[in-house]
Amino acid sequence: TNPPEIAALVLDWYDRHHRTLPWRSPPGTPPPAPYRVWLSEVMLQQTTVPAVKPYFEKFLTLWPSVHDLANAPVEHVMEAWAGLGYYARARNLHKCAKAVSEQHGGIFPDSEAGLLELPGIGPYTAAAIAAIAFDEPAAVLDGNIERVLARLFAVETPLPQARVELRKLAAQVTPQHRPGDFAQAMMDLGATVCTPKGPDCLLCPLQARCAAFKRGIAETLPRKAAK
Ligand code: ADE
Repeated sequence: TNPPEIAALVLDWYDRHHRTLPWRSPPGTPPPAPYRVWLSEVMLQQTTVPAVKPYFEKFLTLWPSVHDLANAPVEHVMEAWAGLGYYARARNLHKCAKAVSEQHGGIFPDSEAGLLELPGIGPYTAAAIAAIAFDEPAAVLDGNIERVLARLFAVETPLPQARVELRKLAAQVTPQHRPGDFAQAMMDLGATVCTPKGPDCLLCPLQARCAAFKRGIAETLPRKAAK
């Protein structure tokens, strides 16, 4: 199956079934400000969508711009973060806001490589911001996307080893047009249809292209290395 066809099916599904979330703009419309995308992606990295929503709103109300966040005392940021967990993220969030505010004039770098140089921004976050905020065809790979790809291409190598291959596949299927919508479509597909247990293959736009479905092994993928 060819990549443009997969992207077209996924984007068409997203247009009809996307989740409306406070950090998104509707499919096919201009992207939200990089500040919003960055804030949401940092929060979403180790926390679920429902848990993040109220914190995302609270942070934007308290600190509407990256300058506001950078100028806040770090203790206030830590207090506002309380309950979200993984507190190193809050410290790094503040550090990153300071770097963007003081070294970049409040403008987030618009490339994956530039974003990677900021404190607290790793490969996942850099790719996600580049794709979602700047329409760069960066290959985004999170847990949901890994599962969709492992099934679509019937990758039987166990995680974490499989990541090398999954990264290549992500790069191959990422379209030049609407890469941010594509990444978020794959996240939504993984969260709502291509779920870890009991995937809803009957509702999947990729069913006819899915190698794991064809072989009846969708639910068994991705495999995990024995600990
Ligand atoms: N998880 C990480 N980033 C996300 C996003 N942009 N939308 C939904 N879930 C996500």
